[in-house]
Amino acid sequence: MSLTPLFSFLLFLLFPLSLATQFPLPSGVQPEGVTFARGSNYFAADIRSGSIFLVDVASGLVTTAVAPIPGRIGGGIDASKDRLFVAGGGSFLPGVEPALHVYDIPTGTPIATCPTGGGSLVNDVIADKDFAFYTDSFRGVVYKLSISALPRCRFETIPLPTPAFKPEAGVFRANGIVKYKGGLIVANSELAAPFFIDILNGNKAQRILPNGTTEGIDGLDIVRMKGGSLLYVTQNSLNRVSVWKLSIRGRRVSAKFVKNITSSGFNVPTTVAVKKNTLVVANAAFGSVPPTGPIDDDVRLNITAIHI
Ligand SMILES: *[C@@H]1O[C@H](CO)[C@@H](O)[C@H](O)[C@H]1NC(C)=O
Ligand SMILES: *[C@@H]1O[C@H](CO)[C@@H](O)[C@H](O)[C@H]1NC(C)=O
Ligand SMILES: *[C@@H]1O[C@H](CO)[C@@H](O)[C@H](O)[C@H]1NC(C)=O
Repeated sequence: MSLTPLFSFLLFLLFPLSLATQFPLPSGVQPEGVTFARGSNYFAADIRSGSIFLVDVASGLVTTAVAPIPGRIGGGIDASKDRLFVAGGGSFLPGVEPALHVYDIPTGTPIATCPTGGGSLVNDVIADKDFAFYTDSFRGVVYKLSISALPRCRFETIPLPTPAFKPEAGVFRANGIVKYKGGLIVANSELAAPFFIDILNGNKAQRILPNGTTEGIDGLDIVRMKGGSLLYVTQNSLNRVSVWKLSIRGRRVSAKFVKNITSSGFNVPTTVAVKKNTLVVANAAFGSVPPTGPIDDDVRLNITAIHI
């Protein structure tokens, strides 16, 4: 027997430590990106079709926010004001043209799609009111897209330091991204560590944790707090989200381990969104469902909400 999302969410409010709630997406959907929308709603992006779903973790209601468009996929996503920024993946997925996508949230219609060319893997994105920063895993760069120029595609390409982010076909380096203290924190999947890219200081880079500390590092989120912001790191292959307390002295960033969050509901979590006491992950299930292969009709992939 499976519980309805609404009923299980009520249980989750009553027994917050013991239960994670699963929110199944429509069949054929493989969630890779997740971000907070508003209230109890989160957006989830489909790496197969580029569709974006709005999931209400209070009611379990799942609706389509952006309909699929041929040749597009949805990787990491971020919402800012009425715009949704979607990392458009790479041509290693058949028929996909790598690009920086921007959608209008109220109507679900495209505002801009900015091609990045062959050899790209546009993986994740973070936006503020002026710019959206997209990572490219294979090229070792961040694209800084001007929001005021939209719908025109005006972006600057910021090279990340080598050898840490050496451009190399097929090797996932730059991955999840968040903003921190006037700079960017960028996950390096190959080195299994997060980096601080100080865009206020000529894009100088620092490794925040030693190589290998965060195996399977993928999407990130940050919760800003007085006395030290918290960095949430998805570790996809370990089915874990690790939590780190950040501090900055001068322009030197350090991170102290806080805890690991695990759940039987995690299935290769690729991205995370934290709002107040709710943590939501997208379970891409890459271990059992390769994104380039077929997906069985009876397989329903989930996003998971946990009370933290
Ligand atoms: C971490 O990995 C990078 C890239 O392979 C290497 O250049 C660097 O020396 C490594 N750092 C340490 C402390 O092992
Ligand atoms: C958290 O996970 C790491 C592995 O990534 C492990 O070494 C460490 O012991 C865990 N810490 C706790 C407190 O469970
Ligand atoms: C989705 O969640 C349900 C309920 O917990 C679980 O039975 C199922 O295995 C999950 N699906 C995948 C593919 O992880």
